[in-house]
Amino acid sequence: MSPYKSILLCSGLVLTAQASVLQFTNPTTCCSLLDSKFPGESKVFSSTALEYEALTFYWTPTAQVLPRCVFTPYNTNDVKKAVKLFARRNCQFAVRGGGHSYNPGWAGIKKGVLISLGNMNHTTYNAGTGLATVDGGSRWTDVYGDLLPYNITVLGGRNSDLGVGGYLTGGGISFYANKEGWAADNIEGVEIVLGNGTVINASKTQHSDLLRSVKGGSNNFGIITKFRLATVNATGLFNGWYMRYPFASTDSYLAAAESYCNGGVDTDTRSHIIFSASIVGMGNMTNVALMAYDGALDPSNPPSVLGPFFDGTVANPTFQWFAPNGTIKSATDGLRDAQGSGNRYTMTTLSIRVELSLLKKLRKAWLEMTTTDLRVIPGFLVQFAFQPVGATWIAASAAKGGNSMGITEPLAVMWIQLRWDNQSDDAQLLQYSRRLIRRFEKIASRAGKLASFRYLNYGDRFHKDDIIPSYGSESVTRLQSAKELYDPDNVFGRLVPGGFKIPGY
Ligand SMILES: Cc1cc2nc3c(=O)[nH]c(=O)nc-3n(C[C@H](O)[C@H](O)[C@H](O)COP(=O)(O)OP(=O)(O)OC[C@H]3O[C@@H](n4cnc5c(N)ncnc54)[C@H](O)[C@@H]3O)c2cc1C
Ligand SMILES: *[C@@H]1O[C@H](CO)[C@@H](O)[C@H](O)[C@H]1NC(C)=O
Ligand SMILES: *[C@@H]1O[C@H](CO)[C@@H](O)[C@H](O)[C@H]1NC(C)=O
Ligand SMILES: *[C@@H]1O[C@H](CO)[C@@H](O)[C@H](O)[C@H]1NC(C)=O
Ligand SMILES: *[C@@H]1O[C@H](CO)[C@@H](O)[C@H](O)[C@H]1NC(C)=O
Ligand SMILES: *[C@@H]1O[C@H](CO)[C@@H](O)[C@H](O)[C@H]1NC(C)=O
Ligand SMILES: *[C@@H]1O[C@H](CO)[C@@H](O)[C@H](O)[C@H]1NC(C)=O
Ligand SMILES: *[C@@H]1O[C@H](CO)[C@@H](O)[C@H](O)[C@H]1NC(C)=O
Ligand SMILES: *[C@@H]1O[C@H](CO)[C@@H](O)[C@H](O)[C@H]1NC(C)=O
Repeated sequence: MSPYKSILLCSGLVLTAQASVLQFTNPTTCCSLLDSKFPGESKVFSSTALEYEALTFYWTPTAQVLPRCVFTPYNTNDVKKAVKLFARRNCQFAVRGGGHSYNPGWAGIKKGVLISLGNMNHTTYNAGTGLATVDGGSRWTDVYGDLLPYNITVLGGRNSDLGVGGYLTGGGISFYANKEGWAADNIEGVEIVLGNGTVINASKTQHSDLLRSVKGGSNNFGIITKFRLATVNATGLFNGWYMRYPFASTDSYLAAAESYCNGGVDTDTRSHIIFSASIVGMGNMTNVALMAYDGALDPSNPPSVLGPFFDGTVANPTFQWFAPNGTIKSATDGLRDAQGSGNRYTMTTLSIRVELSLLKKLRKAWLEMTTTDLRVIPGFLVQFAFQPVGATWIAASAAKGGNSMGITEPLAVMWIQLRWDNQSDDAQLLQYSRRLIRRFEKIASRAGKLASFRYLNYGDRFHKDDIIPSYGSESVTRLQSAKELYDPDNVFGRLVPGGFKIPGY
């Protein structure tokens, strides 16, 4: 780190003084300068343009903020020209992939310029190298659809509507995670537009420090225009389904969940389970297991690790298929359709080391804190979910070169997802989610089972400055060194205010 940065880090006063000296160019000026770079090409849309509404639509309206204009690049050169201009003129901007972040201003910006990557959405496959090349603005449904004719796929969203850009730079939990690791660890290379407008390829042999940094480093290093991804065999059948178990099955459900998390998962890494529980309005809590299997699945003779969830050990299951004996595309399209857009949502996360008594304590605290005054709020839904990051997953990630996330021991990523109807209820429900996660932290910490990791893609606005530090000091130091090398002017911190930032930037 340069001495200049160290001084800034050590002194809040200096930071404040420095900030007041910075002059950002008026966004209207930035928009017209940008437009003049692309004469007659209609790539810049102001709020009066017909396209503006669709371009500023987010999966959840909770995330929406309105930019002065939206820029829609078609290729890397377009992105390069824009970033060069913004850096030279001190224009603030945001970068949007699929627009699935829950947080306002993460993939959007009030008044500045929004770069929306949706027109950069091609996928190709090179049978010689076995790698797929995926443009930075693609969505998984198109990626899977383009690759399946070759009988292969890549590690991507379990909901196919997600964008590749945010998902992969945040880590990425895919249905293949238990066997193949984080989706980010299956990135073999990226083409990235740096803060000074230079385009470089980072791979395992060239700028490997940058490649590692973007695996969990989010939007802090540049705009990724292409991902080169390792592929996996998709010749076989793929299954995705939900099972629900009533409130009364809770004890056996949690016992089976604990056993799957603490080793079960490693015995059959083609399996995948998200353990969740939901409360909808005043209805009773139900236990849910969202499951997938990379292979054919006969419900009357399931793979043995899934046995307890089928054979009555966890009592009274009800099935809901979204892709019986289908493909990765039909399973993830099924989840996309089940998780429709348009509602207000938030999500918050922590990680624990799994222990049955802790799971019970957390469930109990959650039920206590989900009081009637909250449950009567229009559209109220709360989900409490967790899933293991097991030994095989961690080893697979490490073998592929490692990432920024600093996980060395098995843990479970845990999250709370909240849904509601009205903007007028935002403050109350955001506070509830914040209180819940703090209480969870206390309970897990008292049990000696709190893990430091917080998953970026499930992080909330209240943890803006806590996510990347949760990767541990070794990762943070590596990320800071990469910032000095690849974004020395901190274009992606100073001019891109949205997202989870690296300490000091
Ligand atoms: C319904 C739903 C289901 C989900 N399911 C899963 C799941 O199965 N597994 C999982 O791991 N996560 C899941 N998530 C979380 C998801 O990974 C994140 O929301 C992720 O940010 C989505 O990526 P995006 O491109 O759509 O997001 P955006 O909101 O567009 O972007 C998120 C962040 O990434 C940055 N960014 C986007 N593209 C680029 C790029 N090309 N270069 C540099 N920076 C970029 C943006 O600036 C922004 O800060 C889910 C979320 C939702 C809403
Ligand atoms: C993909 O990009 C093209 C332009 O390059 C655009 O016309 C098309 O609508 C995009 N597809 C999606 C699904 O956004
Ligand atoms: C894909 O697999 C199917 C079924 O196994 C086979 O018929 C087809 O030829 C394969 N396609 C390619 C491109 O290998
Ligand atoms: C990046 O790699 C691609 C594919 O190998 C190549 O076409 C392109 O020219 C490279 N770009 C740079 C800036 O090196
Ligand atoms: C892919 O999996 C199928 C079975 O699902 C198998 O027959 C085939 O040999 C595998 N292909 C490769 C390249 O591993
Ligand atoms: C939920 O189910 C449990 C167990 O069957 C029962 O004890 C409880 O009263 C139910 N609560 C509601 C609100 O129905
Ligand atoms: C999936 O296919 C297998 C045979 O390959 C069959 O035994 C099983 O019943 C099928 N499952 C479903 C849900 O149809
Ligand atoms: C809140 O939601 C309810 C039900 O969806 C709706 O009827 C009502 O008009 C909303 N109230 C406000 C203030 O938006
Ligand atoms: C842009 O930044 C990169 C990384 O810091 C550096 O290698 C490159 O020389 C810079 N290019 C220009 C034109 O300044």
